[in-house]
Amino acid sequence: MEKFVIKGPCKVKGVVSVSGSKNAALPILASTLLFNKTVKIKNLPKVKDIETMINLLRSLGSKISFSQNKRIVKIKNYKIKNFFASYSHVKTMRAGILVLGPLISRYGLATVSMPGGCQIGVRPINYHLSGLKKLKMNYKIKKGYVHANAKKIIGSKIKFPKISVGATENLIMAATLANGKTILKNCAIEPEIKDLVNFLKSAGAKIKWTGKRTLEIYGVKSLDSTSYSVMGDRIEAGTFCIASALTQGNLEVCGLKPEIINTEINLLKKIGAEIKTKKNKIIVKGSKKIKNLKLLSTKEYPGFSTDLQAQFMVLLCKAKGRSIIKENIFENRYLHCAELRRLGANIIVRNKKAIILGGANFEGAELMSSDLRASVALVLAAIAAKGKSIIHRIYHLSRGYENLDKKLKKIGVDIKKIR
Ligand code: EPZ
Repeated sequence: MEKFVIKGPCKVKGVVSVSGSKNAALPILASTLLFNKTVKIKNLPKVKDIETMINLLRSLGSKISFSQNKRIVKIKNYKIKNFFASYSHVKTMRAGILVLGPLISRYGLATVSMPGGCQIGVRPINYHLSGLKKLKMNYKIKKGYVHANAKKIIGSKIKFPKISVGATENLIMAATLANGKTILKNCAIEPEIKDLVNFLKSAGAKIKWTGKRTLEIYGVKSLDSTSYSVMGDRIEAGTFCIASALTQGNLEVCGLKPEIINTEINLLKKIGAEIKTKKNKIIVKGSKKIKNLKLLSTKEYPGFSTDLQAQFMVLLCKAKGRSIIKENIFENRYLHCAELRRLGANIIVRNKKAIILGGANFEGAELMSSDLRASVALVLAAIAAKGKSIIHRIYHLSRGYENLDKKLKKIGVDIKKIR
């Protein structure tokens, strides 16, 4: 199995461009099942999860052709004849559940594998199912699959009991071709959801934000052909900004509108980094002294992102003084703590909080990746550590970071990928 060998410490410097957003591209790709005309999607990241989604769509009958550089796909969903999304596709990429909404809305039929849990949590889909039921989807769960059917998806009023990115996305897609009007309240408002809405509107969908977390959707008979470029990856951008703040670096992070990670930018300023923002770039200069944060809690967008929690924790390990991180979105997202301790971090996990005692001098070690974001946190720590680190099971990283080793090498990191 491939691993990374990283020799530190080093200061990252120069310019890095983020790839297209995995978490925007996945729902947009799933939503192409709503179309009976050709769709072109650009700026796709070359990561494993996108490959898995493409394979899932092809297994349903999508005709998909890639451009030379594999960042552009042309998708023809005229002849979907299979409505079975298998466990093999969904088990490694939980976003596979996002084909349920479009399939049931366009065809009235879908058998989709339950996503199953993962390292960071149980990952239930009860809000997806209860919302779709309100739109007249019938379903039963048998042998780990959702067996769903609907005579016709009918618009309705739905208020999500809890903010859920995936449930919001599934309901937006199902309501797009529904009979009549759907109102969705207490929606997640991550930028990736706005990207999905903008994509569907570019094809003639009648969707509009009528409140901060409220969507109004009038079902249409069919969608037009469209060509759309996926937004830049804000989690990748945040990861590189943290890398610069961590290593007293001087980095220009390009490819996204800085304001979509305002919360994280303000936090980096609070811990002492110097940040300038321009139209499509963020310039981060790390300071020698990293300040601690009394309490950092993850929240739904626009709050501090759970997908940057592990990366930020590495920063706070180096801060002067004690910090506390509270993970509020997932029930088990502290897997990186044990591995960071192996590098010399001083972290206690108690009562669902991580208490970081700060002042760590990381020393290189052998490390084991777990979930996607915990793995990239280990890479950051290895870059800041003195000596050699070996990071095993880096396949977790290739799910969501395109050419990570090449991008890091280009900004001054001594990193090699070995078998
Ligand atoms: C999306 O996952 C992202 N994945 C996650 O990124 C991200 O961490 C998460 O949103 C939160 O921002 C993609 O976009 C592909 P949720 P999703 O539904 O949709 C509970 C990454 O690293 N919940 O907002 O699964 C759930 O258990 C990944 O790129 C229910 O209880 O997240 C969790 O505790 C990791 N019932 C919370 O809500 C439901 O029906 C948030 O989940 C749905 C969710």
